[in-house]
Amino acid sequence: MTLREDSVGVEDLVLLEPLEAESMLRNLQLRYENREIYTYIGNVLVSVNPYQQLPIYGPELIAKYQECTFYELKPHIYALANMAYQSLTSRDRDQCILITGESGAGKTEASKLVMSYVAAVCGKGEQVNSVKEQLLQSNPVLEAFGNAKTIRNDNSSRFGKYMDIEFDFKGSPLGGVITNYLLEKSRVVKQLKGERNFHIFYQLLAGADAQLLKTLKLERDTSGYAYLNREVSRVDGMDDASNFQSVQSAMTVIGFSEKEIRWVLEVTALVLKLGNVELSDEFQANGISASGISDGRGVQEIGEMMGLDSKELERALCSRTMATGKEKVVTALNVVQAQYARDALAKNIYSRLFNWIVNRINESIKVGTGEKKKVMGVLDIYGFEILEDNSFEQFVINYCNEKLQQVFIELTLKEEQEEYKNEGIPWKKVDYFDNGIICNLIEHNQRGILAMLDEECLRPGVVSDTTFLAKLNQLFSNHDYYESKVTQNAQRQYDHTMGLSCFRICHYAGKVTYNVNSFIDKNNDLLFRDLSQAMWKAKHPLLRSLFPEGDPKQASRKRPPTAGAQFKSSVAVLMKNLYAKNPNYIRCIKPNEHQKQGQFSWELVATQTRYLGLLENVRVRRAGYAFRQGYRPFLERYRLLSRSTWPRWNGGDREGVEKILGELTTCTSEEITFGKTKIFIKSPKTLFFLEEQRRLRIQQLATLIQKIYRGWRCRTHYQQMRKSQILISSWFRGTKQKQRYGKMKASALLIQAFVRGWKARKDYRKYFRSGAALTLSNFIYKSLAQKFLLGLKNNLPSTSVLDKKWPEAPYKCFTTANRELQRLHHQWKCKKFRDQLSPKQVELLRDKLCASELFKGKKAAYPPSIPVPFHGDYIGLRGNPKLQKLASGEEGPVLMAETVRKVNRGNGKTSSRTLLLTKGHVILTDSKKSQAKTVIGLESVAGVSVTSFKDGLFGLHLSEISSVGSKGDFLLVSEHVVELLTKMYRAVLDATQKQLPVTVAEQFSMRFKEGNVTVKVIQGPAGNGSGKLSCKKKGSHGLEVTV
Ligand SMILES: Nc1ncnc2c1ncn2[C@@H]1O[C@H](COP(=O)(O)OP(=O)(O)O)[C@@H](O)[C@H]1O
Ligand SMILES: [Mg+2]
Repeated sequence: MTLREDSVGVEDLVLLEPLEAESMLRNLQLRYENREIYTYIGNVLVSVNPYQQLPIYGPELIAKYQECTFYELKPHIYALANMAYQSLTSRDRDQCILITGESGAGKTEASKLVMSYVAAVCGKGEQVNSVKEQLLQSNPVLEAFGNAKTIRNDNSSRFGKYMDIEFDFKGSPLGGVITNYLLEKSRVVKQLKGERNFHIFYQLLAGADAQLLKTLKLERDTSGYAYLNREVSRVDGMDDASNFQSVQSAMTVIGFSEKEIRWVLEVTALVLKLGNVELSDEFQANGISASGISDGRGVQEIGEMMGLDSKELERALCSRTMATGKEKVVTALNVVQAQYARDALAKNIYSRLFNWIVNRINESIKVGTGEKKKVMGVLDIYGFEILEDNSFEQFVINYCNEKLQQVFIELTLKEEQEEYKNEGIPWKKVDYFDNGIICNLIEHNQRGILAMLDEECLRPGVVSDTTFLAKLNQLFSNHDYYESKVTQNAQRQYDHTMGLSCFRICHYAGKVTYNVNSFIDKNNDLLFRDLSQAMWKAKHPLLRSLFPEGDPKQASRKRPPTAGAQFKSSVAVLMKNLYAKNPNYIRCIKPNEHQKQGQFSWELVATQTRYLGLLENVRVRRAGYAFRQGYRPFLERYRLLSRSTWPRWNGGDREGVEKILGELTTCTSEEITFGKTKIFIKSPKTLFFLEEQRRLRIQQLATLIQKIYRGWRCRTHYQQMRKSQILISSWFRGTKQKQRYGKMKASALLIQAFVRGWKARKDYRKYFRSGAALTLSNFIYKSLAQKFLLGLKNNLPSTSVLDKKWPEAPYKCFTTANRELQRLHHQWKCKKFRDQLSPKQVELLRDKLCASELFKGKKAAYPPSIPVPFHGDYIGLRGNPKLQKLASGEEGPVLMAETVRKVNRGNGKTSSRTLLLTKGHVILTDSKKSQAKTVIGLESVAGVSVTSFKDGLFGLHLSEISSVGSKGDFLLVSEHVVELLTKMYRAVLDATQKQLPVTVAEQFSMRFKEGNVTVKVIQGPAGNGSGKLSCKKKGSHGLEVTV
């Protein structure tokens, strides 16, 4: 518990020093005057009504208190609400908030603050918000119908309310249940001086528009209604008209349909109008007084609105049917009785309407049965009341307060102290007033006042309030808390405030004198059956449903439970409900009787603190322990704070708790005490320390879980991504390769196709039409060639070499081939011809060839020489040994032997000579003398010259250094000049390997001894080569030869 510097007085009375009633009051006063209306006694909140709006509420403060623990900030109702809510959500304990105090002490305001706090901090969301709205909006509706201005409180709740708000496991509101207790229905027909009827009547008249008023058959002026107190129609600071709008919209939010809202207003209007039904005296024929309705129009209108014949209504109001045995007797009611019946009807209609509204709200906010829920109950019940004239209502109200005080005592004072004893904790008893005896006085089943009252009501015979009082006097004459005139008389005491018809109970909050008048009546709470039956007959659906007992079929003879019994049992249910929950107390204190701000009435507050037992509360609190819990749940909650107990603990609960606390705190045994089954912690500080540690530890653990979870998530995510990546890349690669392969395959196929095609075309080209022509032409060509060749075979020309005949080619195309064939054939013929030649013939032909080479085309003598074979020996050498002798000494045979003529250079005359040509020499001899005249070695032959004519003249040029002597060259004439010169040429070639120069010319030079002579040859006219030639000398160096 921290002490803030800025605190006014002490914020927690537990810290008060010295602890006395006076110092406590002074502290409260000091704080009150400094506008600190909240003070703690441990975890009990004391609230002093400020009667002014303080700037200590609103969303910001809610947020602030939500963040902090109980003692961190100034005492506040939000802190209490927060503690309860936190305890609900985190400790999973149902909570109840008990708000007690006198009427006008601020209970209803406190309950609203608690609800608004819870609504603000609990979960959000569309669904949740609508539930919250419904819960919050139930307040204005219930206040309109159940609150009224009293002398003590302008907005006094005239009913008890207990509201269970139900939450899901997350702490979001699911819905709720409202229980209402005993509406002060007498207020409907009668109000004390300075008080008003229920707000709704004024709201309706002030707020309804003209149209609505007309349909409800109402007038705006409140003074026109008998049930409304004519003195006070308005309350300061309360805008009835705008409140009416709020109530209507609140009803819509809660879920009332348009029709239902209209019904409710109609029934409210009916009650109001019922008050205006005037009854007057009438007398029956037999003189017995009766009653009748004097204002026919009013009752007519009521009948119309109810959907009931006005006559029937009148009958029900003015007469009573009594059933005795099988007979039914109708008795007329006198005016007083009729008025009583009318008022009873109005009160009943109104109170039943109120119950119906509560039920209707419950229907809207109820939670499905299946859901597991946690509950926070808020009890705002009418406060203790001491009026001048206290009646049955005050009696039950005070009884209820007595019971609540008992709860408080039981839970905070008695139980606590007993627990210390049971747990074996050293404890000095704190005395307190136990009001059990007073509760017993009232509620005892056989001997309680309520039991007596019931007995009186049920008892046959003459029954009246007086007999009831007498009974009480008799029974409780010796009771300490019961007083009456009789008991006073017995004790010879006189108190003038006590009337004859009164009894007094010494309540915990003070002595209250009750007047027994109408106790019986109110307890019976009976409505004449005629009235309920009439109401049931009404066509108005809501009104009719309010009176189910009016149904003749359902009419049972059994009495309904009395009001007292009903109340007692509902209080019992409430108590049971409260005991099952963790209580949180708000003790409301009224600082003055005048609803004035800043006024602190010492007396008044002193009384309240005394009867509320605040001082005892502080004492017990101080000596006791702020917190206790069984070892098991404590261990469960704080197990995580120690390494030895978390995550597993195998030892006993107590040992575990000791372990945790031993490790965590260094507290003395005074601070922490170990009971038999529970651990006790003295100051909240330690508890808050533990809670803080737990919060930190939970954060750590949450972080750990988060860490592991995040790690796991990232890992799986990564693995998934990796897998995906591999998959994708494998697919991608696969696809790419497939594409590549596809392309390659396509290309290969294309190439293959081309190759195959090409091949196939090649193979099949022959089958092609385009090739057919070629084939055909080839064929034709072949056949033509065949025919041509075969024809040629059969038609070969003669094998004679000279036969140049050759058949013509039948077609032009064969011309070349034909020519070639011809050539080949010719060559072949030539070869054949050559092969058959003898070597001699070959030699001969060689000479011929050489001759042709030398002279063909050059010398006219050549052509005639061709067909003439070269004989060589033209002089018969073989047969002439003389001549042979010439040639003796020569190696080899004589190549040419002829008689030539030698031209004399001097005169141009010719002389015959024999010429022999051997392989080495040219031998010239004189024909007559067979003696060798000249032998010329072939190596000395330098050349020969011939003419181109047919003649046989030739010049034999010798080289200068000839052995022959210096006669010089020879100019010779031969008849076989061609043969001779050919053979000479060949002989020179063989002998000297030199080609003999053969000059064919018309003019050539001869070298003689005497000098060179130019021989000029002229063709004579004969020119036939007959051998006749003439030479003429032309100068010394010229010789002209005509041939
Ligand atoms: N916390 C508060 N702040 C301001 N005014 C308050 C507060 N509590 C009560 N009051 C005033 O006191 C009046 C009576 O309070 P209420 O809660 O109706 O009393 P109770 O329900 O105990 O009879 C309220 O109408 C209001 O004017
Ligand atoms: Mg109230």
